[in-house]
Amino acid sequence: MREFQKRKDNMLIGGVSAAKLAQRFGTPLMVTDENALRENYRAISGAFNAVFPTRVNYACKANTNLAILRILEQEGSCIDAVSIGEVESCLKAGFSPDRILYTGVSVSDEEMRMLVERKVPINVDSVGQLRRLAAIDFQHPISLRVNPDVGSGHSQKVITGTKGAKFGIPKEDIVQAFAEAVRLGFSPKGLHAHTGSGGSDPAVFGKVTEVLVAIFEKVRAELGIDLEFLDIGGGISIPYRPEELRADLGAIATEVAEKLKGSGVKQLVIEPGRYIVADTTVLLTRVNDVKSTPVKEYLLVDAGFNTLIRPAFYDSYHHVAVATKFGEQAQMKYDVAGPLCESGDYLAKERYLPRVDVGDILCVYDVGAYGYSMSSNYNTRPRCAEVLVADRKSFLIREREEIKDLFRLQKIPSRLNK
Ligand SMILES: Cc1ncc(COP(=O)(O)O)c(C=O)c1O
Repeated sequence: MREFQKRKDNMLIGGVSAAKLAQRFGTPLMVTDENALRENYRAISGAFNAVFPTRVNYACKANTNLAILRILEQEGSCIDAVSIGEVESCLKAGFSPDRILYTGVSVSDEEMRMLVERKVPINVDSVGQLRRLAAIDFQHPISLRVNPDVGSGHSQKVITGTKGAKFGIPKEDIVQAFAEAVRLGFSPKGLHAHTGSGGSDPAVFGKVTEVLVAIFEKVRAELGIDLEFLDIGGGISIPYRPEELRADLGAIATEVAEKLKGSGVKQLVIEPGRYIVADTTVLLTRVNDVKSTPVKEYLLVDAGFNTLIRPAFYDSYHHVAVATKFGEQAQMKYDVAGPLCESGDYLAKERYLPRVDVGDILCVYDVGAYGYSMSSNYNTRPRCAEVLVADRKSFLIREREEIKDLFRLQKIPSRLNK
């Protein structure tokens, strides 16, 4: 959680008044602070490169806004992409293909053909996929994804590295998979694993590195392949609650570097998504109604799980403040709920806040990762706008959808028009 300043009673985001942003661009609105984004990238790249040569592949599934990608391109980041849509977004934002690594699951031949055409290296998820890719182009640059049997994450739904998960080639089969890759004509460049999303324990990052190093050594000894990189995936958490501490990047990097020492590995790759973007962005949402029930008080706002699904989907905590009464004493306990016709549509429960009135603007913290990128049109509601703030100025980086946008791809067969 970042700290925010205020002017009079008004919260400032990157020096710009939240109330003014809400007034100018409407709500719900996601607001990203460019300085915070650059700071996060530099912090993680700096911490790892201080102890080992490290390439940072930003996991753009967290947030693919083109302006955000552009800033990270300028910072020197590389990319972890999981779909052709993400790849195209990154190419459009200025990344060269060699700065992108595609790691998909359930990958079609058509998608692989498009990646080959675009010269984007592929991190292969299964032996079946490897054989299908060989039939398309056995000279394409590849690496292999292993299931390391090391899992971690903030929710069962985001743990990817445990035995039996759908991702990667089982640990027991990975050396054979490298042998098969060579037999098919490939020259594999690396080995990848991802344990899951939302952890900060250095030991987990150390453990997955250990697994990868053991495979790296076996592949070299048994097959004579000298892999160029080991990719330990992403997953570094951020503090969503006021009492939580920031992940100790130095401790994680040092633990990983310790395991790499003496192995002969030349390059480490990391794939942080959340750490780079989560706390750069807040959601501004307007209070439409204040409702008292015999059991609780509701603040009914204009953003629901169509805009931010993490609380409803993962039971995630997002800190909430009243941007238009920022710093005022808490007086009331509220649940914050959205406009969707589902009782599970909420943003926050049992929060102590100043007394709120209709028209107040609430600020939901830390929505930069898996916020907009997981939003939807549920209840046929247009998606929100996005704004970037920099040097006390604001820039629209995504227009608010309009109702007419929701009709754009739909067709009524003419026989129904009679
Ligand atoms: C393969 C892979 N790499 C990186 C990430 C990024 O994780 P995080 O945003 O927690 O850093 C994910 C997230 O699911 C992933 O699946």
